[in-house]
Amino acid sequence: MIGSRAAGSAARLALSIAGAGLLCGAVAAAEPDPSRDDFSRPLPGLEGEELAGFALGRAQFRTIRLSGARADGSGGLGPVFNRTSCSGCHVRNGRGRPPESDAAPLTTMVIRLGPGSQYGGQLNDKAVPGVEPEGRAVFLPNPAVHVELDGVAWPLPSARVAIRKPALGPPAPHVALSPRVAPHVAGTGLLERIPDAALAALADPDDRDGDGISGRRGGDGNGRLGWRAELPGVEAQVARALHEDMGVTSSLQPSANCAVGHDACAVQAGGGIEISDVAFQALVAYVRNLAPPAPRASPAADAGSRVFDAIGCTACHTAEWELEGTPVRVIRPYTDLLLHDLGPGLADRRVDGSLGNREWRTAPLWGAGRIFAVNGHRRLLHDGRARGFVEAILWHGGEAAPARDRFRGLEAADRSALLAFLASL
Ligand code: HEC
Ligand code: HEC
Repeated sequence: MIGSRAAGSAARLALSIAGAGLLCGAVAAAEPDPSRDDFSRPLPGLEGEELAGFALGRAQFRTIRLSGARADGSGGLGPVFNRTSCSGCHVRNGRGRPPESDAAPLTTMVIRLGPGSQYGGQLNDKAVPGVEPEGRAVFLPNPAVHVELDGVAWPLPSARVAIRKPALGPPAPHVALSPRVAPHVAGTGLLERIPDAALAALADPDDRDGDGISGRRGGDGNGRLGWRAELPGVEAQVARALHEDMGVTSSLQPSANCAVGHDACAVQAGGGIEISDVAFQALVAYVRNLAPPAPRASPAADAGSRVFDAIGCTACHTAEWELEGTPVRVIRPYTDLLLHDLGPGLADRRVDGSLGNREWRTAPLWGAGRIFAVNGHRRLLHDGRARGFVEAILWHGGEAAPARDRFRGLEAADRSALLAFLASL
């Protein structure tokens, strides 16, 4: 009896591995319980040299960088930075969160800065000895917004950012302060393989089809990654991460990350390239080869996925894509990678408190159900304000307001099926 059960599960395993080459992010036959490793597995089928490269990249991802040149390639930190390793923010390749208290330092998130800031695109809140950090972000609670759900007023807490001890003076009033948590990075490499033509076909910047949902490409019209789809792919994102999160220069970003006029920073900057191309490419390959977790099948999740479709969530959270140039043929990331106006509630705020950009990339939902297992919290949305799925959905406004209101109007059974579906991802 025991023998035949073991044989059965071995056969199922073989089946899911063979199938995985074709459909990634699809339901696997024998999926184990959520685990803290769910964002850390290589794509199925990776072997030999590629698997060895994956291990090298993982070591780079976890390397704690130190300042100055180091023979083992672990140097180059700073002069200004946010964190000393990739995994410091993407803990187990997972999701960051806002600090526990409003005055606590940021550990797994950053403040991006809008155009015209003297600090460049990001506030660096740490620095090597002898250099002043650019400033420190604190969160000031906003008055709570309430949304009615089943006759109960749900409080939706949020916060806005202020900058303390700015080394070069306060940013100008029109500069947007955009707090963003580190997203989980499992599956990112596959998002890079969605054909440009398919994304272009879905984009509808002027809402010509009149369905109330526009959707445009971020960056220079080729953006895919980050909460605002600013960067076109993994190489550019890794170069930016090294440069702006850690102060490490690379062939792609060779100049020091010092703000104009930050003299102590300029003096301390070593000059030259601080990470070898080999180590850089190992990081890129690692991120590209991280597999998205397979969803966990259940009758409730199944029913919930139909509700998700029926109430219009898939108008932005596109379920399925066919890929090009990879053994993985089909993925189910639940994103269109396009920017949508989600309303004033989620918009960036400028220094003077006025509204900034209200467009965000449709967040891929694969892995959203594993954040708790991997990172021990349930925070969602670009700044981590939502404390779970219901809050995340209730924050949807702008183009997503009709879908949000259909969610509010659901019968209890349909709503819990929808939540079971999200938790299964
Ligand atoms: C200080 C925190 C921090 C550090 C350190 C950090 N990241 Fe990130 N990472 C972020 C944030 C925040 C974003 C989202 C940025 C945005 O929206 O503009 C991000 C985005 C990404 C993305 C895009 C994911 C997607 O699917 O859109 C990748 C890939 C990534 N980081 C890889 C890395 C690598 C590799 C390193 C180390 C070289 C690294 N990060 C270091 C905070 C960090
Ligand atoms: C108009 C496009 C649009 C529609 C329709 C839409 N969403 Fe979203 N969704 C987004 C965008 C954009 C974000 C990222 C917002 C942010 O981070 O501030 C997002 C984020 C989310 C998140 C948080 C993901 C994360 O990783 O933090 C969840 C959960 C979610 N949506 C579920 C839903 C559900 C359920 C529906 C249907 C009721 C829905 N969405 C409808 C665009 C949309």
